[in-house]
Amino acid sequence: MTVEPLPLQKLPPDLDCNRLPKHVAVIMDGNGRWANSKGRPRIMGHQKGVDTLKNLLYCCRDWGVSALTAYAFSTENWGRPSEEVAFLMTLFERVLRRELQEMMSENVRIRFVGNLGKLPNSLQSEIAKAMEDTENNSGIQFTVATNYGGREEIVQACKAIAHKVQLNDISITDINEDLFEQHLYTQGLQNPDLLIRTSGEMRISNFLLWQMAYAEIYVTETLWPDFNRDEFHQALSNYQKRDRRFGKVNDSK
Ligand code: FPP
Repeated sequence: MTVEPLPLQKLPPDLDCNRLPKHVAVIMDGNGRWANSKGRPRIMGHQKGVDTLKNLLYCCRDWGVSALTAYAFSTENWGRPSEEVAFLMTLFERVLRRELQEMMSENVRIRFVGNLGKLPNSLQSEIAKAMEDTENNSGIQFTVATNYGGREEIVQACKAIAHKVQLNDISITDINEDLFEQHLYTQGLQNPDLLIRTSGEMRISNFLLWQMAYAEIYVTETLWPDFNRDEFHQALSNYQKRDRRFGKVNDSK
């Protein structure tokens, strides 16, 4: 791995530290195309994508963004060629094993969200260890969506709530948005303020469907392995120009 934690680098002066997104979510798209454009196998794009993600994590930390969530593997990604799926599972495991110590010393809190019980057992063990070891860290919250599907997450929340009603633990009148959020994989995590998708695709692809209700969406043509601090700077600059009204009207206008 070529990435080293950079010394603290300041927020670019044109950005307002009081108007930063607290939580940034990323759809890391374009790894395969990046590799193909260089005449390399698709998996090289995923490998390079890990470096990009680590750089972004440190950039968020350096600039004062308190949470980063990355879409690493969707429930639909099982439909990819079996060699690519196997490579990704091994990559997640290898990266977790290799990076855990550094994540501890950098005070990062790691969490995986998704239908984790369907992942290979050895990966599940690494995930459990990473989550357990870092749970008391107080630095940036890093969430990795793996075998994640927004629709599946909503359905499992409905089932869990229905079960509680059936057992008379709660009544139907107790069901509200707060209670619903408590049954999502992301329970306790604030909703993303900004979603960044690379490679020019204008879709949310079943990612954080509930949580993204009022996220600002930023799409760049840049392929994920080439996404860097300058690109993130542009995304934040664009975000700070948005007028977030949450369905209301802006009093000052
Ligand atoms: C989408 O690009 C990328 C993925 C499905 C995998 C992303 C995973 C990583 C970058 C590894 C992250 C690792 C950890 C440990 C969190 P694509 O393959 O769909 O690209 P394409 O659209 O060009 O084909």
